[in-house]
Amino acid sequence: MIETHIIDGRLQAADLDKETSIAVQSFISTHGRAPELHVIMVGHHAPSQIYVRKKKELAEELGMVCHIHSFDNDVTTQAIINKIEILNDNSHVNGIIVQLPLPDHIDKKAVQNAIHDRKDVDGLNDINVKLRQDNDSGALIPCTGLGVLHLIRSVKKDIAGVEAHVIGRSAIVGQPCFDLLKSAGCNVMQSHRGIDDIPSISSKADILIVATGQIEMVTREWVKEGAIVIDVGIHHKVDGTRRITGDCLYDDLVGHAGALTPVPGGVGPMTVSYLMHNTIRAAELQIN
Ligand code: GUN
Repeated sequence: MIETHIIDGRLQAADLDKETSIAVQSFISTHGRAPELHVIMVGHHAPSQIYVRKKKELAEELGMVCHIHSFDNDVTTQAIINKIEILNDNSHVNGIIVQLPLPDHIDKKAVQNAIHDRKDVDGLNDINVKLRQDNDSGALIPCTGLGVLHLIRSVKKDIAGVEAHVIGRSAIVGQPCFDLLKSAGCNVMQSHRGIDDIPSISSKADILIVATGQIEMVTREWVKEGAIVIDVGIHHKVDGTRRITGDCLYDDLVGHAGALTPVPGGVGPMTVSYLMHNTIRAAELQIN
Protein backbone atom coordinates (compact mmCIF):
# COMPACT_ATOMS: atom_id res chain seq x y z
CA MET A 1 0.00 0.00 0.00
CA ILE A 2 1.25 3.48 -0.83
CA GLU A 3 -0.21 6.78 0.23
CA THR A 4 -2.35 8.32 -2.52
CA HIS A 5 -2.42 12.10 -2.83
CA ILE A 6 -6.01 13.15 -3.53
CA ILE A 7 -5.90 16.12 -5.91
CA ASP A 8 -8.34 18.84 -4.85
CA GLY A 9 -9.87 20.19 -8.07
CA ARG A 10 -12.08 22.65 -6.18
CA LEU A 11 -9.07 24.27 -4.53
CA GLN A 12 -7.14 24.52 -7.82
CA ALA A 13 -10.22 25.93 -9.56
CA ALA A 14 -10.70 28.55 -6.82
CA ASP A 15 -7.10 29.74 -7.33
CA LEU A 16 -7.63 29.99 -11.07
CA ASP A 17 -10.89 31.90 -10.50
CA LYS A 18 -9.01 34.51 -8.47
CA GLU A 19 -6.69 35.14 -11.44
CA THR A 20 -9.65 35.29 -13.83
CA SER A 21 -11.51 37.70 -11.59
CA ILE A 22 -8.51 40.07 -11.53
CA ALA A 23 -8.25 39.91 -15.34
CA VAL A 24 -11.99 40.61 -15.64
CA GLN A 25 -11.73 43.67 -13.37
CA SER A 26 -8.83 44.95 -15.44
CA PHE A 27 -10.83 44.42 -18.66
CA ILE A 28 -13.78 46.30 -17.16
CA SER A 29 -11.65 49.28 -16.11
CA THR A 30 -10.00 49.48 -19.53
CA HIS A 31 -13.07 48.91 -21.71
CA GLY A 32 -15.92 50.15 -19.52
CA ARG A 33 -17.91 46.94 -19.87
CA ALA A 34 -17.77 43.33 -18.73
CA PRO A 35 -16.63 40.46 -20.99
CA GLU A 36 -19.58 38.46 -22.34
CA LEU A 37 -20.01 34.70 -22.62
CA HIS A 38 -22.92 33.36 -24.71
CA VAL A 39 -24.12 29.78 -24.35
CA ILE A 40 -26.35 28.10 -26.92
CA MET A 41 -28.42 25.23 -25.62
CA VAL A 42 -30.69 22.91 -27.56
CA GLY A 43 -33.44 20.76 -26.07
CA HIS A 44 -33.91 19.77 -22.45
CA HIS A 45 -30.95 17.49 -21.63
CA ALA A 46 -31.10 17.53 -17.80
CA PRO A 47 -27.34 17.30 -17.05
CA SER A 48 -26.65 20.06 -19.62
CA GLN A 49 -29.13 22.31 -17.86
CA ILE A 50 -27.21 21.84 -14.61
CA TYR A 51 -23.81 22.43 -16.28
CA VAL A 52 -25.02 25.55 -18.06
CA ARG A 53 -26.46 26.95 -14.86
CA LYS A 54 -23.08 26.41 -13.16
CA LYS A 55 -21.32 28.20 -16.00
CA LYS A 56 -23.65 31.19 -15.74
CA GLU A 57 -23.29 31.35 -11.95
CA LEU A 58 -19.49 31.30 -12.07
CA ALA A 59 -19.31 33.80 -14.96
CA GLU A 60 -21.43 36.26 -12.98
CA GLU A 61 -19.49 35.61 -9.77
CA LEU A 62 -16.30 36.55 -11.62
CA GLY A 63 -17.81 39.76 -12.98
CA MET A 64 -18.68 38.62 -16.51
CA VAL A 65 -21.98 38.70 -18.34
CA CYS A 66 -23.43 35.34 -19.39
CA HIS A 67 -26.41 34.92 -21.74
CA ILE A 68 -28.09 31.59 -22.43
CA HIS A 69 -29.86 31.13 -25.77
CA SER A 70 -32.22 28.15 -25.58
CA PHE A 71 -33.66 26.38 -28.62
CA ASP A 72 -36.30 23.66 -28.84
CA ASN A 73 -35.18 20.16 -29.70
CA ASP A 74 -36.52 20.43 -33.30
CA VAL A 75 -34.46 23.52 -34.23
CA THR A 76 -32.56 23.30 -37.53
CA THR A 77 -28.78 23.47 -37.96
CA GLN A 78 -29.26 26.62 -40.04
CA ALA A 79 -31.24 28.38 -37.32
CA ILE A 80 -28.42 27.76 -34.84
CA ILE A 81 -25.84 28.98 -37.36
CA ASN A 82 -27.91 32.12 -37.97
CA LYS A 83 -27.83 32.84 -34.24
CA ILE A 84 -24.07 32.23 -34.11
CA GLU A 85 -23.51 34.64 -37.00
CA ILE A 86 -25.38 37.38 -35.14
CA LEU A 87 -23.21 36.75 -32.07
CA ASN A 88 -20.02 36.67 -34.21
CA ASP A 89 -20.88 40.13 -35.55
CA ASN A 90 -21.58 41.63 -32.13
CA SER A 91 -18.33 43.08 -30.76
CA HIS A 92 -19.58 42.88 -27.18
CA VAL A 93 -19.79 39.08 -27.43
CA ASN A 94 -16.40 37.65 -26.43
CA GLY A 95 -17.07 33.93 -26.06
CA ILE A 96 -19.58 31.54 -27.65
CA ILE A 97 -20.16 27.90 -26.80
CA VAL A 98 -22.73 25.40 -27.97
CA GLN A 99 -23.51 23.06 -25.11
CA LEU A 100 -23.12 19.38 -25.98
CA PRO A 101 -24.66 16.92 -26.59
CA LEU A 102 -26.74 18.17 -29.51
CA PRO A 103 -29.72 16.25 -30.96
CA ASP A 104 -28.66 13.78 -33.70
CA HIS A 105 -30.23 15.79 -36.55
CA ILE A 106 -27.96 18.79 -35.88
CA ASP A 107 -24.70 18.98 -37.87
CA LYS A 108 -22.39 19.44 -34.88
CA LYS A 109 -19.25 20.18 -36.92
CA ALA A 110 -21.03 22.82 -39.03
CA VAL A 111 -22.28 24.51 -35.88
CA GLN A 112 -18.86 24.46 -34.17
CA ASN A 113 -17.13 25.76 -37.29
CA ALA A 114 -19.64 28.60 -37.60
CA ILE A 115 -18.27 30.13 -34.38
CA HIS A 116 -15.60 32.76 -35.09
CA ASP A 117 -12.27 31.20 -34.12
CA ARG A 118 -11.41 34.10 -31.76
CA LYS A 119 -14.74 33.58 -29.92
CA ASP A 120 -14.54 29.77 -29.86
CA VAL A 121 -13.97 29.40 -26.11
CA ASP A 122 -14.63 25.63 -26.30
CA GLY A 123 -11.69 25.36 -28.72
CA LEU A 124 -13.56 22.87 -30.88
CA ASN A 125 -13.59 24.46 -34.32
CA ASP A 126 -11.15 23.28 -36.98
CA ILE A 127 -9.01 26.42 -36.88
CA ASN A 128 -8.34 26.08 -33.15
CA VAL A 129 -7.74 22.32 -33.40
CA LYS A 130 -5.09 22.97 -36.05
CA LEU A 131 -3.47 25.79 -34.02
CA ARG A 132 -3.41 23.51 -30.98
CA GLN A 133 -1.83 20.66 -32.89
CA ASP A 134 0.78 23.07 -34.24
CA ASN A 135 1.43 24.13 -30.61
CA ASP A 136 0.57 27.71 -31.62
CA SER A 137 0.22 30.03 -28.60
CA GLY A 138 -2.86 31.63 -30.20
CA ALA A 139 -4.93 28.44 -29.96
CA LEU A 140 -8.08 28.43 -27.85
CA ILE A 141 -7.96 25.02 -26.16
CA PRO A 142 -10.85 22.88 -24.82
CA CYS A 143 -11.45 23.60 -21.15
CA THR A 144 -11.31 20.02 -19.89
CA GLY A 145 -7.88 19.41 -21.45
CA LEU A 146 -6.55 22.61 -19.84
CA GLY A 147 -7.99 21.51 -16.51
CA VAL A 148 -6.44 18.04 -16.79
CA LEU A 149 -2.97 19.48 -17.50
CA HIS A 150 -3.34 21.95 -14.63
CA LEU A 151 -4.21 19.17 -12.17
CA ILE A 152 -1.24 17.08 -13.33
CA ARG A 153 1.10 20.04 -12.89
CA SER A 154 -0.29 20.67 -9.40
CA VAL A 155 1.48 17.45 -8.36
CA LYS A 156 4.29 17.26 -10.94
CA LYS A 157 5.61 20.45 -12.52
CA ASP A 158 8.06 19.02 -15.04
CA ILE A 159 6.47 16.29 -17.12
CA ALA A 160 8.85 16.32 -20.10
CA GLY A 161 9.93 12.78 -20.97
CA VAL A 162 7.28 11.17 -18.75
CA GLU A 163 5.26 8.20 -20.08
CA ALA A 164 1.61 9.24 -20.36
CA HIS A 165 -1.46 7.36 -21.53
CA VAL A 166 -4.85 8.74 -22.55
CA ILE A 167 -7.83 6.37 -22.62
CA GLY A 168 -10.40 7.96 -24.93
CA ARG A 169 -10.13 9.87 -28.18
CA SER A 170 -13.09 12.26 -28.18
CA ALA A 171 -12.65 15.70 -29.76
CA ILE A 172 -13.64 17.33 -26.49
CA VAL A 173 -11.44 15.38 -24.03
CA GLY A 174 -9.20 12.60 -25.36
CA GLN A 175 -7.70 14.46 -28.33
CA PRO A 176 -6.92 17.72 -26.51
CA CYS A 177 -5.36 15.81 -23.60
CA PHE A 178 -3.21 13.85 -26.04
CA ASP A 179 -2.06 17.03 -27.84
CA LEU A 180 -1.35 18.95 -24.62
CA LEU A 181 0.67 16.12 -23.07
CA LYS A 182 2.62 15.76 -26.29
CA SER A 183 3.33 19.51 -26.38
CA ALA A 184 4.51 19.28 -22.77
CA GLY A 185 7.11 16.73 -23.92
CA CYS A 186 5.50 13.53 -22.61
CA ASN A 187 5.76 10.25 -24.47
CA VAL A 188 2.06 9.79 -25.02
CA MET A 189 0.07 6.71 -25.99
CA GLN A 190 -3.65 6.70 -26.61
CA SER A 191 -6.20 3.93 -26.51
CA HIS A 192 -9.93 3.67 -26.86
CA ARG A 193 -12.80 1.23 -26.87
CA GLY A 194 -12.11 -1.42 -29.46
CA ILE A 195 -8.43 -1.77 -28.57
CA ASP A 196 -7.74 -5.12 -26.92
CA ASP A 197 -6.24 -5.38 -23.48
CA ILE A 198 -5.87 -1.69 -22.62
CA PRO A 199 -4.73 -2.49 -19.03
CA SER A 200 -1.54 -4.09 -20.34
CA ILE A 201 -0.54 -0.74 -21.93
CA SER A 202 -2.15 1.76 -19.55
CA SER A 203 -0.41 0.12 -16.58
CA LYS A 204 2.99 1.19 -17.96
CA ALA A 205 2.18 4.90 -17.79
CA ASP A 206 3.25 7.33 -15.06
CA ILE A 207 0.39 9.66 -15.99
CA LEU A 208 -2.98 8.14 -16.86
CA ILE A 209 -5.93 10.15 -18.19
CA VAL A 210 -9.15 8.19 -17.96
CA ALA A 211 -11.99 9.17 -20.29
CA THR A 212 -13.54 5.79 -21.08
CA GLY A 213 -17.11 6.96 -20.63
CA GLN A 214 -17.75 3.73 -18.69
CA ILE A 215 -18.72 3.91 -15.04
CA GLU A 216 -16.00 2.70 -12.60
CA MET A 217 -14.31 0.66 -15.32
CA VAL A 218 -10.71 1.38 -14.38
CA THR A 219 -9.37 -0.75 -11.53
CA ARG A 220 -5.81 -1.03 -10.18
CA GLU A 221 -4.91 -3.60 -12.87
CA TRP A 222 -5.06 -0.71 -15.36
CA VAL A 223 -2.80 1.54 -13.30
CA LYS A 224 0.94 1.53 -12.57
CA GLU A 225 1.67 1.77 -8.86
CA GLY A 226 2.45 5.40 -7.99
CA ALA A 227 0.97 6.82 -11.24
CA ILE A 228 -0.88 10.13 -11.42
CA VAL A 229 -4.47 9.29 -12.41
CA ILE A 230 -6.89 11.91 -13.72
CA ASP A 231 -10.52 10.71 -13.89
CA VAL A 232 -12.54 12.68 -16.43
CA GLY A 233 -15.71 10.56 -16.12
CA ILE A 234 -18.94 11.61 -14.50
CA HIS A 235 -21.80 9.19 -13.84
CA HIS A 236 -24.58 8.50 -11.39
CA LYS A 237 -24.30 5.23 -9.50
CA VAL A 238 -26.95 2.73 -10.51
CA ASP A 239 -27.20 1.20 -7.02
CA GLY A 240 -30.16 3.35 -5.99
CA THR A 241 -28.02 6.00 -4.25
CA ARG A 242 -27.47 7.92 -7.55
CA ARG A 243 -24.22 9.11 -5.96
CA ILE A 244 -21.86 10.75 -8.48
CA THR A 245 -18.84 8.67 -9.49
CA GLY A 246 -16.25 8.52 -12.25
CA ASP A 247 -14.66 6.20 -14.81
CA CYS A 248 -12.31 4.88 -12.10
CA LEU A 249 -13.15 2.54 -9.24
CA TYR A 250 -11.97 5.14 -6.74
CA ASP A 251 -11.66 2.97 -3.60
CA ASP A 252 -9.63 0.40 -5.53
CA LEU A 253 -7.11 3.03 -6.69
CA VAL A 254 -6.62 4.66 -3.28
CA GLY A 255 -3.48 3.04 -1.86
CA HIS A 256 -2.22 2.19 -5.35
CA ALA A 257 -2.12 5.39 -7.45
CA GLY A 258 0.39 8.06 -6.46
CA ALA A 259 -2.14 10.83 -7.04
CA LEU A 260 -5.80 10.66 -7.98
CA THR A 261 -8.62 13.07 -8.77
CA PRO A 262 -11.93 12.44 -7.01
CA VAL A 263 -15.34 12.60 -8.72
CA PRO A 264 -16.94 14.95 -7.89
CA GLY A 265 -14.39 17.62 -6.98
CA GLY A 266 -11.65 16.80 -9.47
CA VAL A 267 -11.76 17.67 -13.17
CA GLY A 268 -15.35 19.05 -13.14
CA PRO A 269 -14.68 22.34 -11.33
CA MET A 270 -11.55 22.91 -13.45
CA THR A 271 -13.55 22.62 -16.68
CA VAL A 272 -15.96 25.38 -15.67
CA SER A 273 -13.14 27.60 -14.37
CA TYR A 274 -11.16 27.20 -17.59
CA LEU A 275 -14.20 28.23 -19.61
CA MET A 276 -14.08 31.54 -17.73
CA HIS A 277 -10.32 31.73 -18.23
CA ASN A 278 -10.78 31.09 -21.97
CA THR A 279 -13.47 33.78 -22.17
CA ILE A 280 -11.32 36.54 -20.69
CA ARG A 281 -8.38 35.32 -22.78
CA ALA A 282 -10.55 35.43 -25.93
CA ALA A 283 -11.71 38.94 -24.99
CA GLU A 284 -8.07 40.05 -24.73
CA LEU A 285 -7.15 38.33 -28.03
CA GLN A 286 -10.02 40.12 -29.77
CA ILE A 287 -8.82 43.52 -28.56
CA ASN A 288 -5.18 42.94 -29.52
N1 GUN B 1 -20.86 19.13 -22.49
C1 GUN B 1 -20.09 18.52 -21.55
N2 GUN B 1 -18.90 19.15 -21.44
C2 GUN B 1 -18.91 20.16 -22.32
C3 GUN B 1 -17.95 21.17 -22.68
O1 GUN B 1 -16.84 21.26 -22.16
N3 GUN B 1 -18.34 22.03 -23.65
C4 GUN B 1 -19.56 21.94 -24.24
N4 GUN B 1 -19.85 22.83 -25.19
N5 GUN B 1 -20.46 21.03 -23.96
C5 GUN B 1 -20.13 20.14 -22.98
